[in-house]
Amino acid sequence: MENPQRTAIAIILGTVLVLLAPFVALQLDHWRYHWRLAPPDTHGDTAMVVSAHGLASEIGRDVLAAGGNAFDAAVAVNFALAVVYQQAGNIGGGGFMVYRLADGANGALDFREKAPLAAHRDMYLDADGNVIKGASLRGHLAVGVPGAVAGMAAAHEKFGSMAWADLLAPAVDLARGGFVLSPKAAKMFNRYQKDFAALNDHTPVVLKPDGWRVGDKIRFPALADTLTRIAENGRDGFYKGLTARLLVAEMDAGGGLITQADLDAYAPVWRAPVRFSYRGHEVISMPPPSSGGVALAQLLKGAEAYDVRRMGHNSAAHIHMMVELERRAYADRASYLGDPDFVDVPVDRLVSDAYVKTRMAAIEPWQKTDSRDIREGRVDRVESVETTHISIVDPAGNAVAITTTLNGNFGSKVVVRGAGFFLNNEMDDFAIKPDHANQFGLLGNAQNAVAPGKRMLSSMTPTIVTKDGDLRLVVGTPGGATIITSVFQTIMNVVDFDMRAQQGVNARKAHSQWQPDLVMLERGTLSVPSMIGLMRRGHRLYAWPRFKYELGRVEAVLIGDDGARRGAADYVRGKDDRAIGF
Ligand code: GLY
Repeated sequence: MENPQRTAIAIILGTVLVLLAPFVALQLDHWRYHWRLAPPDTHGDTAMVVSAHGLASEIGRDVLAAGGNAFDAAVAVNFALAVVYQQAGNIGGGGFMVYRLADGANGALDFREKAPLAAHRDMYLDADGNVIKGASLRGHLAVGVPGAVAGMAAAHEKFGSMAWADLLAPAVDLARGGFVLSPKAAKMFNRYQKDFAALNDHTPVVLKPDGWRVGDKIRFPALADTLTRIAENGRDGFYKGLTARLLVAEMDAGGGLITQADLDAYAPVWRAPVRFSYRGHEVISMPPPSSGGVALAQLLKGAEAYDVRRMGHNSAAHIHMMVELERRAYADRASYLGDPDFVDVPVDRLVSDAYVKTRMAAIEPWQKTDSRDIREGRVDRVESVETTHISIVDPAGNAVAITTTLNGNFGSKVVVRGAGFFLNNEMDDFAIKPDHANQFGLLGNAQNAVAPGKRMLSSMTPTIVTKDGDLRLVVGTPGGATIITSVFQTIMNVVDFDMRAQQGVNARKAHSQWQPDLVMLERGTLSVPSMIGLMRRGHRLYAWPRFKYELGRVEAVLIGDDGARRGAADYVRGKDDRAIGF
């Protein structure tokens, strides 16, 4: 006969164990990530290159070792990434550069794509005013006028010291001679085979219906020819001549809008960076048309009012503070930010101490702000996001932070027939309809509406931090809407939590962006007490699968008090990423 008392105890114990199991698993996961020691930083006595691909970082290192400066290396790395990292490295997209010279002079270069001259506000709406699904994301109509080649040419013209053709030569060699596919590269090419087939009426090199295998060698002869034309003719090798004709023909064939007039009109813009202080450091970041610098200034200035170190890294109080600041910064982003060449963007007011203090004053320490009445955007789309960041410091102490993108992985998925490069799908970064969420779940209004020749709002946040006049950190990341919050957390990791470069990069991350009203979490971010603390404050938590690989992936160089360059590539989330110094 069974003992009823023992049976009852067993049932109760079993129930308790079942109820506790998720908490135990969460806490174990948190410890796993929290206590796993980050490997040592990559050491460089005088120079460091960090990029999304080891082959590109090696090329940058070689340029610096041959006496080139940070700008030379950046040009060479960018073109190399356009070959070995085609999901984001590009000549058919655009980006932003923030630089600081050894003497302290600094600036920013905007080589963001532009809407074609034939673009118009409602171009992605049907006759009833509804968004045409996918039109701003896939295919020829999604393409903005590329800025990458003009941007590199402008950077080289102003600061380069080596011959332009020599900087492109390694990329030409890689494209012509081929390179071996890593597991990640093979996976990425295979994931998009259906799109490559559906959106191209020719057979681009990347199309291989039976799939790419790790170790396959892949060659890009048409891309090598295009890069050779750019090597020989500078920006004209892209915006004029055969490359331009092939690009315009591709547009004509697929119903795209870009014409020779668009290519002729494209010009990058040197802009004054957003500069502000954070706990005795000076932060230099990207101004509009990126929202990165403005939002980062609001977040860090807001955080300065708190004793972040005492809160504890990724504690409930720490994440609550970040999320509440982010809620307000992203709401401002949606309302105020756009292309300053087209709309009035009140940058000075948005980043002023007085405004940030007032804006963030209503944050309650124990209660999340109630957003129940505000409509939610969508985040968890099928479409993947991809951008790429390069951080470089040269032996003289010049620093370059460049973030470039095609927007989605492989952009529009359209390869220019005969020219062999992918075109961006950056038009989706416009607010294609007021309060319609883009692929990152970001909202916008008329400030960021489509207009001919206008640049779409970005989140890219290439950033440089100094202390007492000395270079301290060069940082940036891919990841769409999470770019800003990842840079925010990395700066706090270094400044407030005294983390090494690789610790700061590897640390688990959280993200929130006002809409949707969620705290999006990378696996292992929360301990059980943090989770309970956030839920008590009313937050809705969401374990975001997309954090794996794609988001929160930072490339950084930290400069020690001894002047050594400490590189940290995010090879945990990124796999092929690599820091190389000497
Ligand atoms: N395409 C992503 C961004 O510019 O923010």
